[in-house]
This record gives sequence, structure tokens and C-alpha cells, in this order.
Amino acid sequence: MSQVQKQLERRRTFAIISHPDAGKTTITEKLLLFGGAIKQAGAVKSRKTERHATSDWMKMEQERGISVTSSVMQFHYRDRVVNLLDTPGHADFSEDTYRTLTAVDSALMVIDCAKGVEERTIKLMDVCRMRQTPIFTFINKLDREGREPIELLDEVEEVLGIECAPVTWPIGMGKRLRGVYHLLDDAVHLYEPGKNYVTQDAEIIEGLDNPLLDERLGGDVAEFRDEIELVRGASHEFDAEAYLAGKQTPVFFGSAINNFGVTPLLDAFVKHAPAPRAHATTTREVACDESKLTGFVFKIQANMDPAHRDRVAFMRVCSGRFEQGMKMHHVRLGKDIRIANALTFLAQDRDSVEEAWPGDIIGLHNHGTIAIGDSFTEGESLQFTGIPNFAPELFRVARLRDPLKLKALQKGLQQLSEEGATQFFRPMLGNDLVLGAVGMLQFDVVAYRLKHEYNVDATFEAVNVQTARWVRCKDEKMLRDFTNQLSNNLALDAAEQLVYLAPTRVNLQLTTERWPDITFSPTRETV
Ligand code: G4P
Repeated sequence: MSQVQKQLERRRTFAIISHPDAGKTTITEKLLLFGGAIKQAGAVKSRKTERHATSDWMKMEQERGISVTSSVMQFHYRDRVVNLLDTPGHADFSEDTYRTLTAVDSALMVIDCAKGVEERTIKLMDVCRMRQTPIFTFINKLDREGREPIELLDEVEEVLGIECAPVTWPIGMGKRLRGVYHLLDDAVHLYEPGKNYVTQDAEIIEGLDNPLLDERLGGDVAEFRDEIELVRGASHEFDAEAYLAGKQTPVFFGSAINNFGVTPLLDAFVKHAPAPRAHATTTREVACDESKLTGFVFKIQANMDPAHRDRVAFMRVCSGRFEQGMKMHHVRLGKDIRIANALTFLAQDRDSVEEAWPGDIIGLHNHGTIAIGDSFTEGESLQFTGIPNFAPELFRVARLRDPLKLKALQKGLQQLSEEGATQFFRPMLGNDLVLGAVGMLQFDVVAYRLKHEYNVDATFEAVNVQTARWVRCKDEKMLRDFTNQLSNNLALDAAEQLVYLAPTRVNLQLTTERWPDITFSPTRETV
């Protein structure tokens, strides 16, 4: 077995999808704790606070109580190397989340047992379904009164369209929570309130018929055994193949804050979650065990360390081995660059990595030459596909208080659009700069960052655009005619691609009918 094969088979790269408040931060912290990446509970939260306190523009997210940034955390568990890609929970930053989901091999869905399937989860599951991402499910907050477990599973099946296979099953809930039963291991993990905050040291009783259970559960034991019989008969059995195909999700119950039920989840996760797989490019499929390095950039983030004011491009390694100091080929620019100081994101600290393997994420220092969707290789000219740019649904035109700042405004908007903070269009006629976003909050973030990072005071005003479509046509003459006739509605995006800005949906419909040979695309893959 080659070294690449050996390393990639250890890798598990995933993201957590959930509605805000379901417990994503808490469970992240517990996973890092088990993985030895942090020493004490509370570290992830305090990291959040520290960042807020030191970074200017993130003060805004603190005020609004949301997390704008994403980061990457690596930890070891058993013989696996686990990469957890954090995603912002707030709906306004969904573009960023969607792109992060292109860089993972599986996902963990966290659901609040009192609230069930919520709106953000539905949207994120749609993205996972498009890519057939395998999903683990954790139903959280079992220490509080919630809905009946069977009802929760029905809801997941019905609303999210995925088959559920319970792996653990709760014994009681809220004040009556006694533990969980592991259906595959035939073992009961007992719950003792207050005992499991830091490590899960629950007592485990092997076998449903074990007389110890009668002792521990007392009068409730018969009812509990009956329930398990019923669950076994009525629910789907875990099927590893169906899980890997994205058709079935194994379901675990627990309480993240009490560190309860997390160990069975993590044990099963490192056993069954998929290792890195092949990735499509415009020319061929890249197998992950190829010896030459390839990777793509799915995210750019600014000011992670305000002292440096740097921008970091996150690259997912798809094949081969990355080594500090090696030369990589920047396919879009057709240039070789030497990478001397790539970053990894181990819990709180950014350490230099010496090497990285398929499934790992590395951070490249970026001075404006790397954009989302860029591919890197050891020389081959290939472009990874499938990293989407979504058509914005909200538009504003930028207005300057000081007209002399036009250059700084253009530079700021160009850079912020490369990071995916906003999309930026230059209409073919006139000098306006139009911004596009998926959520309103993006405009506030851009205004704030323009002021604090580029010293530009800009306001954003309403503009007569309702939706945008990327325009393509194989027939050059037809494209020229189209461009000449409709220049009023056409613009170039930050990557110089032609975009049709439609004032109304009716207008868009009429235009597409009038120009049947032109493709109007609601997403642009950043290739
Ligand atoms: P998020 O990242 O998905 O938004 O959720 P987060 O982990 O921040 O959790 C949201 C709230 O739910 C937090 O409470 C957290 O303590 C609580 N929580 C998480 N897991 C459990 C659990 O298993 N049981 C119970 N009862 N609560 C849980 P908060 O009051 O908003 O924040 P904090 O003051 O606790 O930090």
C-alpha cells in the first residue's frame, strides 16, 4: 500500500450542519476534547469571545450573536485523523456554508430534540442531497423534555427524505433520562447527571437481559425492554452501503453539554464515515490515491489574526502529498509558486504543517492572487468542478461619500468578492458598482469592512435588479448581438464573466424566451 493510500484511509473530513442553537458549538467542543485537541470544556466558546474582542469587524457578529467565520479543526481519534470544517450557522452566510460542504466527505446533522427538523437544516440537507453526502444524525439536548423519539425519526424521514436507522435509543428524557441503549453493541450507557461534563465515563452494561439493568433501572426496566423490542421491529437496521450512498442516516441520541451519547457517535463515525474519494475535474476524474498533489480552494477568509491582516485561502487536498516548501502550479494563472508557510488550524492555534494528505485542509497566505474555485497541481492543467457561486437575490448599488475614494472602493469590493463576502458586478454602461448578496446582513458586513479595512465610507442604495443569471453561448455572433442589444442589463462579475441583471422575473422569463440559444444559469461554477 502506498504512503498516500495509507494516509488517506486514516482521514475523515466532515462538517456539522444544524439550525442555530441546536448545539453545534457544544458538540464541536466535545469532539475536540475527546480528540485531545483541547484540554478543558469551554475552550471553543472562549475562543469565540477572544476573537470577537480582538477583531474589529467581528464585533458586529458578537452584537448579533452569530458566527460569521468558518474554521478548520483537526484532531486525532483512535487511529484516525479527523478534519472538522466549521460552517457559519446564520442563513445570511449560506453561500460560504454551501461551498464548505463541497470540501467534505460527510456531514453530521445535529437536531434539537424539542424542536425537531428546523428550516436551516432543511436547506443544508438539500445541498447534501445534491452531492449524496453521507450523513450521521445526532439528536441533542436529551436532558431536556423533548418530542417522542419515534416522532422525531418520522419527521426526519418525511421532511428530509432520508431513511433513519437508530443506533442508540434513549431511555427516558429530561428529568427521567436514564441512559441510551446501543442497538448494534447491545449495551446500555447509563446517564448520571453532572458526572460526564468533561469525559464520558458512563457505566456501560452489556446485554439487554443483564440482571444489572434490573438493579439500575428498577421498575422501569420491563417497559424499556418492551420499547426496544418495538423499535427493533419497526425501524430500519443500519446499512453501511445505504449510508454511504446518502440514502440512510444512522441516528444517535444524547446531550452534548453533558458529554452524554457523544462517544458512541464518535466511535461509529470514525468506523463508518467515508475516507476521501475521487473528485471530478473538467478533464478527468482525480483518484485520491494518485501520487501527485492536487487540490482546490473553497474558501477565503480575511483577518483571522488581526495582527497580520492577512487573507487565507483554504485548500482541500484531493490527491498526493503536500509538503512545506514545495512548488505548486496555480492552474488559472498558469504559474508555479513556492509554498513555504502553509497553515493548519488545530483548535485554537495555527501551527505550521510539514505535510498534508488527501482530506486535509491547508491555509495558503493570499495576497489577492488566489480566488475561490482555483485549482492547484504539480503541473497538470486541470480544474476541479462543483464549487458553486449562487445567483444573489438582493442587490444594492454602492454610493461613496467621498468620490475620490473610487479606486479604494473598487479594490475593496474586488477583494471582498474574492472572499465570497459579497458578489460584485460592473454594469457595461455607466460607472455604478452593483453588489449582490444572498442575505441582507452581507451588506452590513461589507460596509463595515470597507470602512475599517479600506477606509472607505460607502452606503448601499436600492437598485432596479431582482435577479441575476450567468450568460453563456457557444455561438459567438449571437452572443455579440445579445450583448449589443441588451447592454443596459448586462454586467461583468469579479471574474469578468458576463451576467444578465434582470429588473423583474417576468423580464427574465421574456428574455430567456426571446433568446433560446443563450444559456441563463442561476449558478456559476467557479472554474
Ligand atoms: P449552536 O452552535 O448550534 O448555535 O449551539 P450552541 O452549541 O451554542 O448551543 C446553544 C445553546 O444550547 C447553548 O445555551 C448551549 O449551552 C445549549 N446546549 C447545547 N447542548 C445542550 C444539551 O445537551 N442540553 C442542554 N440542556 N443545553 C444544551 P446558551 O444558553 O445559548 O449558551 P451558554 O450560555 O450555555 O453558552
